[in-house]
Amino acid sequence: MTALLQPAPPLPAPVLLLGWYALHARKLPWRQTTEPYRIWISEIMLQQTQVKTVLPRYLEWFATFPTIEALAAAATDDVLKAWEGLGYYRRARFIHRAAQLIVADCAGRFPQSFDGMMQLPGIGRSTAGAISSFCFNTATPVLDGNVKRVLKRWVAQPEATDKALWLLAQQAIETSGEPATWNQAMMELGATACSARSADCSACPVNAFCASAFQVDTASELRKQTPVLNVYWQVELFTCPERGIWLSRRPDTGIWAGLWTPPITELGCQPDAEPAHVHLLTHRRLHLYPVESAQEPAGEGRWVRSIEGYALPTGIHRLLDKVVLI
Ligand code: ADE
Repeated sequence: MTALLQPAPPLPAPVLLLGWYALHARKLPWRQTTEPYRIWISEIMLQQTQVKTVLPRYLEWFATFPTIEALAAAATDDVLKAWEGLGYYRRARFIHRAAQLIVADCAGRFPQSFDGMMQLPGIGRSTAGAISSFCFNTATPVLDGNVKRVLKRWVAQPEATDKALWLLAQQAIETSGEPATWNQAMMELGATACSARSADCSACPVNAFCASAFQVDTASELRKQTPVLNVYWQVELFTCPERGIWLSRRPDTGIWAGLWTPPITELGCQPDAEPAHVHLLTHRRLHLYPVESAQEPAGEGRWVRSIEGYALPTGIHRLLDKVVLI
């Protein structure tokens, strides 16, 4: 398959998108700053978590870790705790490790160049593009899931390769004259008028230049996405009025890596009973079946009187809310 988009479609005049953004952009706190630490944290939080979930957590983060130095010096458990509810905890570990590298190698100063950012754990080409453009106005495009979808629709090439999309994104941002605002505007378009679930072409500022305008088949696009796999987990609840609840730490890799949960066993097949709670991840649907046990727990773990100081996955919080009174 050729990487180049043939024929190259005409790009819309940048002012159409930039003008629309100036009028319609949501006022988000990370759009009111160019401070690298703040932009970095926002971009990592927003990688896999919705804006409405990120908003309160973003401000709390800087109350807990006001500087990169404070973050680097924190215990891993405290960083995971601060990440609670945002999901995909690997990101919190990357941020923590990156902060320690920044302190050790760069005297606590966030890298000022795109290449320097790319050296840090958890920062790939698209995230480095976002941070670099928002902080330093470089013509480094963002190509996250939303922007990919916008560009594919723009050129009506649902199978366009990443290589082709990077070329197109680069060309577009260079023509824009305002790289930082261009990236924000592309993301805004992908999150609003040109979202995965609906394409509101009448609200789109660049519909006259879009090869899919008014003919986007969102249902067929969604069908092509990676299917969600069902898994069935038995969650063993050992509780005791004096000692609290038994928690163990999840392994360092896999779902909920490093977080605290009651012991979990994967079931080989779907039980007849209804799950007490179903928790959806991007590629997994976790069906949780609690069993209460009166025996002594075996294996590694600890009795915990209060779960306050422990980072538990949201799915387990929801389950405990439903079934345990502690
Ligand atoms: N998603 C990723 N980056 C974003 C940003 N800066 N604003 C809104 N949504 C985003």
